[in-house]
Amino acid sequence: MTDLSPQAVAPHLRGRFGMPHLYEPECESTQLLLVDSGLSEGAIATTEHQTRGRGRLGRAWAAAPGTALLVSILLEPRPERRLPELSLVAALAVAETVERATELAAQVKWPNDVMLNRRKIAGILSELVDGSVVVGIGLNVNQTRDELPRDALTEPGSLRTLTGTTYDRATLLGSLLSLLERAYGIWRENGLDGLYGELGARDFLRGRRITVGGEPATALQILRDGRLELDLGAHETRAIESGEIRFER
Ligand code: BTN
Repeated sequence: MTDLSPQAVAPHLRGRFGMPHLYEPECESTQLLLVDSGLSEGAIATTEHQTRGRGRLGRAWAAAPGTALLVSILLEPRPERRLPELSLVAALAVAETVERATELAAQVKWPNDVMLNRRKIAGILSELVDGSVVVGIGLNVNQTRDELPRDALTEPGSLRTLTGTTYDRATLLGSLLSLLERAYGIWRENGLDGLYGELGARDFLRGRRITVGGEPATALQILRDGRLELDLGAHETRAIESGEIRFER
């Protein structure tokens, strides 16, 4: 098993994404390594351990050292492209990476999680920094059950807990970067429309009873502009751009 250093990852790179590669065995957050780095699109930052990993909505993201795939990627989308769509593009690339590695079907849970067997295995955090976007991806790979967070809102899993197998993180990262480069290129030119078949087929919430900020609803679908369409009952539908979703198992 290799680490996430440039030496370990370079043999698995297939395209433009992944270079330059900043690496710290331990850091506060890989997101911070790319801020003010002056690097170009496709640059990445990786680590074995984050001391203050960042999740969505100001939450923390924690993983035992050397167990998770922790990566941030610098992207420069056109200003008119909507940021929440980019999180869905990244989630789709993660789902496809997991499917290739495990031969199981993975889903995208709007707005930015990746699910396997109803467990959250990855989260995406897209942050705007001086006109560029830093997309952070945390994929639970080799954690044991005891190493996963106990207080998570969505029940977590790792590739190891869900398949019984351990995986080489550098190999997964190479695959993820080439799938992200492909999906990102399509999105840059055609928006989510160009990826809608792949995304719609992996829409985890579709048809599920959920609550949004405590309000009950049925999730209908991810729309072509990246919003989530809800059925609120009494013939009322609504499309939302963000929200805290809980689902019934
Ligand atoms: C979430 O589900 O809330 C998003 C989690 C994003 C975690 C990743 S790990 C790599 C990158 N660095 C961070 O500090 N956060 C993201």
